[in-house]
Amino acid sequence: MPHADSSYFGGPNASKSDVYQQVIDQSTGLVYGQRNWVSNFSNVASLLWHAYASLPAPSSSVNWAGFYIRQDKFPVLGASSAEERTAKTDVLVLGPFQGRPACQEIRFGRGVCGTAAQKKETVVVPDVLEFPGHIACDASSRSEIVVPILSGGETVAIIDIDCTEPNGFDEVDRKFLEQLAALLAESCDW
Ligand code: SME
Repeated sequence: MPHADSSYFGGPNASKSDVYQQVIDQSTGLVYGQRNWVSNFSNVASLLWHAYASLPAPSSSVNWAGFYIRQDKFPVLGASSAEERTAKTDVLVLGPFQGRPACQEIRFGRGVCGTAAQKKETVVVPDVLEFPGHIACDASSRSEIVVPILSGGETVAIIDIDCTEPNGFDEVDRKFLEQLAALLAESCDW
């Protein structure tokens, strides 16, 4: 199957769960044989983007879908071991995404992303205007879900999804995005 065919979602009767299950299934196929997070996250960001676009509102109002990765997990030219890398372990750096340009660095504990990274827990924000410290990369975003990707019990990256409508995310989003986070944690080399 051509790779692009993996991003044709839904149909008139597809529920959000159906579409998320297709994201999981297609992600499983696309990461097969590839352990580089840059490559795997890029394809999964694309799948998520097309999945939300195929659904009714509020999912169709998702305006950003992607990843931030811990700074020390970026490849460093010339560094032959993790010990040789001096990058920070408490800073997230912008990774593969779909949507408009976004802020490039977020410290653990800051904003929704940094809060989820530090707590190692999913954070669902029904209204970003009421989340103290929310980092507004795009003023049109109104709700957000951030899911940590944990490897060896530590946050190595986060999934971040923004929506232009309040209350854009529910327990179905949490359940499947946490499954996706687990898949990405185990399918990439960290
Ligand atoms: N709103 C996020 C920042 C990242 S952007 O939404 C892409 C936050 O508060 O951490």
